[in-house]
Amino acid sequence: MRGLVVLVTLACLATAQHQALIDYLERRLLAIEDRISLWHEQTARYASELRELKQQMVSQLENLDKEKETLRMNLDGVGTRVDRVERELDYLETQNGAQPCVDVDDKLIEQQVTLVEEKQKAKYSKHSDCSDMISTIKAMKILKRVGGPKGMWTKDTSRSSGKVYVFNGTEEDTVYEFGSVQDFTRSAGLSLSTELTLPSAWAGTGHVVYNSYVYYVRQEEEVMVAKYDIKSRSMTDSAVFPVQDHVPVYSLSPETVMDLAVDEEGLWAIYSTRQNDRHISLAKVDAVSLDIEQMWDTNCPRENAEGAFVICGTLYVVYNTKQPGRSRVQCVFDVNDVMVSEEAPLVYFPKRYGSHASLKYNPQEQLLYAWDDGYQILYKLIMKKKLEI
Ligand SMILES: *[C@@H]1O[C@H](CO)[C@@H](O)[C@H](O)[C@H]1NC(C)=O
Repeated sequence: MRGLVVLVTLACLATAQHQALIDYLERRLLAIEDRISLWHEQTARYASELRELKQQMVSQLENLDKEKETLRMNLDGVGTRVDRVERELDYLETQNGAQPCVDVDDKLIEQQVTLVEEKQKAKYSKHSDCSDMISTIKAMKILKRVGGPKGMWTKDTSRSSGKVYVFNGTEEDTVYEFGSVQDFTRSAGLSLSTELTLPSAWAGTGHVVYNSYVYYVRQEEEVMVAKYDIKSRSMTDSAVFPVQDHVPVYSLSPETVMDLAVDEEGLWAIYSTRQNDRHISLAKVDAVSLDIEQMWDTNCPRENAEGAFVICGTLYVVYNTKQPGRSRVQCVFDVNDVMVSEEAPLVYFPKRYGSHASLKYNPQEQLLYAWDDGYQILYKLIMKKKLEI
């Protein structure tokens, strides 16, 4: 009997211990559950914070991309401006002799840079209402043979003068003046002419006579345009053409470093530089001050070019063809962008002896005065109206 009591007591004891264990385990479980739910909460919060961060990063990256792009564009702009400034500085240095240090005001450079940019970008404003373009060459007339293989002859391109001028050779200083084309043709050689001696020798065949002034190209260290007053027999002005590293403007005429032209709009300079030596460049020149009004890089190649002229603000470049003695206008550049390119005429010159040493347009007569192997030739042009677009 006593043994049974002990057993019951033992069993009770065991049950109580068991209960305590269960309680303990339950508490632990609850605690673990609490921590798990806390982790859940935290993870969810982290995840949403991460998402937000990612979104912020993405939008900041986009902004950075945009900023990078503007920065790149700014840098490009600065680069070209620095190039220009360097060129201007080089030019200024050549002007001032070799100075070790050129102290130039930033504002001044800025102004010059914008000035050059404007000269290249601005729309050309016409001086005349002329809108002609060449249709064809109607006739060729050989007037005379005088002088050497290379030279230039022209009438004064102003309305009032009928005088004719002969520039024989590519580096002389004596111009022969005739009272009229008739005097020139009936003169035995140059006997009926008056001689004008220029203060310096000319270079090439790129000269013009305009309003009783001779504008001729000189080449010393720099390329210059000199303006000589025929009436007073004196030099009026001489200006360095503000472009560096000239190369002869036409590949087939190495003596002509720069070609001047007169049209209905006034005075032009046709030139080429080492920086852009595959193509011909064009500048509008103020005939009074010799300032450059505007400049253009054309798409006309120098290669195989023998000459060019300007009519109504359009440059016509003449090239040699494979057939001997045949040349033709093969590239046209309109400063007003009026002419449709398909409309650019393929004008052939009549067959001749050699290659043109010079081609000078006369806007009063719509004639081309050409020098070809010592022959003085006139071409009569037929015009048509440009197509407005
Ligand atoms: C014309 O120039 C050439 C050199 O190019 C020379 O030989 C010739 O004598 C000159 N003619 C006249 C008439 O001055």
